[in-house]
Parts: sequence; C-alpha cells; structure tokens
Amino acid sequence: MTTTVPEAVPQPDTILRYNNVAVAIHWTTVVLLLTQVYVGFTFHGMEPGPERGEWFTWHKTIGATILILSLIRLAWRLAHKPPPFPIELPRWERIAAVWNHRIFYFLLIVLPLTGLLAVSGGADEATTSLVGGIPLPLIPGISEALGETIGGIHEALVRITIALIVLHVAAALKHQFFDRTRAEGRMPPLRERDGTPTVPVN
Ligand code: HEM
Ligand code: HEM
Repeated sequence: MTTTVPEAVPQPDTILRYNNVAVAIHWTTVVLLLTQVYVGFTFHGMEPGPERGEWFTWHKTIGATILILSLIRLAWRLAHKPPPFPIELPRWERIAAVWNHRIFYFLLIVLPLTGLLAVSGGADEATTSLVGGIPLPLIPGISEALGETIGGIHEALVRITIALIVLHVAAALKHQFFDRTRAEGRMPPLRERDGTPTVPVN
C-alpha cells in the first residue's frame, strides 16, 4: 500500500492477474454496490409508509453486508500483494489506478458507516432491524442534528462513489478494448485479447 510508483514487471509470456479470492470479492461487491445505490435512491424518493420501511430495511441490510465484506476484503488485500502491473502501462496510469483503488477501499468502509451514524441520530433504541429481524447495533450519543449532518455526508459520498465507478469502468474498458498495454485480463472474466495465458498471483 505504500509504494508511490506501483511495481511493474515485463510480462511477455503470461499476464499476471488477481487471484480467485480477490476476483470473487470484487464481482460480489460490484453486484451488491450497484443494487445498494438503486435501493438507496428508490427508498429515499418514496412517501413515508410501510413500503418505504421495507426498502429501507433492505438498504440497511445490504449496506451492513458491504461493510463486513469490505473489511474482510481489506484484510485479504493487506495480506496478499496484487499482481504487478505490466511494464508497458504508463507510470501515471499505474498511480491513478492505485489511488482509485485506495479511495474505493476507503469509501466501501466509510460509506456504510456514515449511513449507520445517520440512522443512529436521535434514536431511542440501541439497535435497528435488518431483514429477518436481525438487530444491527446503533452508535450511541449521536444527536438528531448530527445524524442529519452525517446523512448529508452519506449522500455526498454516494455521488463521489458513482463518479469513481464511472472513471474506473472507463479505465477498465479502455485497457480492455483500446490500449496495447497488456493491462487487460487482470480481473477475470475479462481476458487478454491476443490469447496470452493469465496466471493468478499470491
Ligand atoms: C461498481 C463498483 C466497483 C468497485 C467498487 C470496484 C473496485 C475495484 C477495486 C478496489 C479494485 C482493486 C482491487 C485491488 O487491488 O485490491 C478493482 C480492480 C479492477 N476492477 Fe473494479 N470495481 C467496480 C466495478 C468494476 C467494473 C464494472 C469493472 C469492469 C468493467 C471493473 C474492472 C476492474 C478491473 C479490470 C480491475 C483490475 C485493475 C488492475 O488492472 O489492477 N470493476 N476494482
Ligand atoms: C455502501 C453502502 C451504501 C450505499 C452505496 C448507500 C447509498 C445510498 C443512497 C444512493 C442513498 C440515497 C441518497 C439520495 O437520494 O440522495 C442513501 C440514503 C441513505 N442511506 Fe445509504 N448507502 C449505503 C449504506 C447505508 C447503511 C449501512 C445505512 C444504515 C445502516 C444507510 C442509511 C441511509 C440513510 C439513513 C439514508 C437517507 C440519508 C438522509 O437523507 O439522511 N446507508 N444511501
């Protein structure tokens, strides 16, 4: 996590890719996060009532799942080095990619936490219900006003996350379909176009 210029090595015969655990967590997170954004905007635009309550319960449940998964993912990531970039990938792109990924890790943890703090604002109970009645502990000592402020931060972070997703997907598609920098195939099921085999690392 500390390198300023990320490691890059020649990869003439095989392309080094993320290992299967990292790949599985990556794509599970994509599905959960996109669903969560949809659920968030949907419940937020609804009239108060039982139906909104149900969507909100799903919002809290999926959000808590993303938080737990992202903490596991971060621990895994710190213990397993990602595949070094191909040497052809320009320096600035390597730095941009690493910072994009770091900010994703930060957002995947802070975003659900700000949601939890928003729900904790002015709450009388010690827990809030998830799907199936599972209790999610609230954070004590948050006033209603602070909860509302943090709700605003939650909404702002959602916008930043969406902007970064657009950037990240655009970069992935550029590497996959337009560049000849051998930076494709690192996150299966994406594949290297000229048929060079990919090898999982770490
Ligand atoms: C929707 C939310 C998404 C999030 C939060 C996300 C997050 C991440 C993160 C954190 C990494 C770095 C993994 C690591 O080093 O530990 C990564 C890598 C990657 N992601 Fe995503 N991703 C998302 C969607 C997508 C989509 C839709 C695509 C494909 C079009 C994609 C393609 C890739 C690729 C190719 C890599 C490997 C980058 C490399 O060459 O090092 N991601 N993603
Ligand atoms: C990665 C996880 C999460 C994402 C992507 C997300 C996304 C969203 C979105 C898109 C909205 C609607 C924003 C708008 O209409 O402007 C929203 C609102 C909200 N979310 Fe989340 N959310 C997440 C986690 C959570 C969690 C875990 C909770 C609570 C336990 C939560 C509580 C709320 C609340 C209370 C609001 C309304 C904000 C307000 O107006 O004060 N969110 N969220």
